[in-house]
Amino acid sequence: MQWRNSRTRYGLPAQAFHWGIVLLLMILFPLGWYMTDLPLGLEKFEAYQLHKSLGLIVFAVLLLRLLWRWRNPPPPLPTELPPLVRLAAKFTHFALYGMVFAQIGLGIALSFKANAPIGFFKLFSLPNPLTPDKQAAEWLSTAHSWTGNAIVSLIALHAGAALWHHFVRRDDILRRMLPISADNPDKH
Ligand code: HEM
Repeated sequence: MQWRNSRTRYGLPAQAFHWGIVLLLMILFPLGWYMTDLPLGLEKFEAYQLHKSLGLIVFAVLLLRLLWRWRNPPPPLPTELPPLVRLAAKFTHFALYGMVFAQIGLGIALSFKANAPIGFFKLFSLPNPLTPDKQAAEWLSTAHSWTGNAIVSLIALHAGAALWHHFVRRDDILRRMLPISADNPDKH
């Protein structure tokens, strides 16, 4: 298994960042929807703290992922793809990064404005630099919810495109992000 990205494949760290974030988002979304419907009490408080802790982990992993990507560019898209498809892919990737960062920022801001603690697995809490404001917290909460919906739509587009590449175009786009490959990675 290679470490660095090549012209045809993602290396192990890039794959681990990608699938690690997928896993974290698969927990964060259902937890977010579930916890808001809970009645006030300890379970709700602990679910919120878990959601916030995992959200902070996504933030750290995203920063590391972008640092790695900067030092280690991803394999280029196949040149035979129509320009509009290449543009759509780039836009979706850029929008996904931007929206997930925005989602984390909104979650942090809404907690501070609601004067709710942001703990990290009972290890420490972030100090609140903002003045609490109930109305702003409600507005930010609505924005956090809508950005969440936009991320779900982008993920559907992104995953749908990966499946289209794999099953319709039958190219290596999905395989190059998988740790095992039935194909020769350097056949191109
Ligand atoms: C990528 C990371 C994140 C995702 C995907 C995510 C997703 C969600 C979702 C789907 C909800 C439910 C919204 C609804 O009711 O429709 C939610 C609620 C919430 N999230 Fe996040 N979240 C993330 C990060 C964070 C972070 C970092 C924090 C704070 C440190 C945070 C704080 C909250 C809070 C406080 C709520 C409840 C809002 C309310 O009660 O009105 N989230 N989140």
